[in-house]
Amino acid sequence: MHKQGMLKENALKGKTVIITGGGTGIGRAMTRYFMELGAKLVITSRKMEVLEKTAEELRNETEGEVLPLQCDVRDYEQVDNVISQTIKHYGSFNALVNNAAGNFISPTERLSHRAFDAVVDIVLKGSYNCTLAAGKYWVKEKITGTVLSTLTTYAFTGSGYVAPSACGKAGVLALTRSLAVEWGKYGIRLNAIAPGPFPTKGAWEQLLPEPMRDKFDPAKKVPVGRVGDLQEVANLAAYLVSDYSAYINGDIISIDGGEWLKGAGQFNNLEMITTEMWDMLEQFTRGKKS
Ligand code: HXC
Ligand code: NAP
Repeated sequence: MHKQGMLKENALKGKTVIITGGGTGIGRAMTRYFMELGAKLVITSRKMEVLEKTAEELRNETEGEVLPLQCDVRDYEQVDNVISQTIKHYGSFNALVNNAAGNFISPTERLSHRAFDAVVDIVLKGSYNCTLAAGKYWVKEKITGTVLSTLTTYAFTGSGYVAPSACGKAGVLALTRSLAVEWGKYGIRLNAIAPGPFPTKGAWEQLLPEPMRDKFDPAKKVPVGRVGDLQEVANLAAYLVSDYSAYINGDIISIDGGEWLKGAGQFNNLEMITTEMWDMLEQFTRGKKS
């Protein structure tokens, strides 16, 4: 069931959506499903050949419309150009998905300041560049747009070994909550999703290099015992971009099978205790009154 599309046919008809990092991984899955639901799409990233290949494949698979545009989200002029090209091509647009990201694992003391910049600039600066450019246009044109940002669950908790990414994602969380209130009066909504582990080439290459794969199986950390399926995250994103979620504003929805809560609960590692051991332990914890 979770591998199937959730919304009814044409649920996104009338939506024109820009998805940054839309050529690969989670962004590609969202693009595909949004096209299936009748939205018009713009996908952006740095690698035009990847975008063009994805666009071609998804047009064939869905018969929907998608425009690939090259853009490094760190550069405001390039972002502004995407907005202009989108308006020129489709007439307007009313949704933005901040999905582009850069990340790698490293002990923080090994990083140069340029390495820190590389990640924070893509994640935070990239997201505020796109959000600002879209928001200015929507306010001026009185368009009730919506922004969805892809965070991570460590945007709430922080995480060792990915400190630049945690800082960038926490910044996007603050941006989401700030503007959800400030721009609510214009009818603009901002929400975010916080995925747990979804096996994509980009994330797995950067965060789970080959030698780590056996020892650090991400599924083992997830209470429901598995990693996510891309259709699951596409379903949630489609709902949050659609008008069905019109009363959801400023929220962050985790989609991680309970992974981050498992790490947070003090006694959650007691799952390793067997039934026999519980029988024995009960003898110690019961009947102390007398
Ligand atoms: C230490 C590194 C490094 C690494 C790069 N640098 N990789 N330092 N460890 N693995 C340093 C470089 O030496 C350089 O510093 C600086 O960072 C900039 O490097 P560039 O290669 O010039 O950067 P750039 O081309 O901008 O590339 C950005 C990138 C790259 C982030 C470094 O990985 C990238 O393009 N990633 C995009 C795809 C991606 O990361 N997808 C995963 C998203 S998954 P010096 O000092 O030498 O100049 C995700 C999921 C999270 O976010 C949650 C999972 C559960
Ligand atoms: P991915 O395929 O590597 O996606 C990252 C995308 O960002 C790529 O398409 C990349 O394209 C683009 N990008 C990177 N730097 C850019 C820049 N400077 N300007 C424009 N685009 C840029 O990885 P993914 O797993 O699908 O990740 C998608 C989103 O989900 C990210 O926000 C990530 O943090 C989030 N997330 C993923 C997971 C997971 O388990 N997969 C978990 C939590 C959160 P180019 O290289 O062509 O620019």
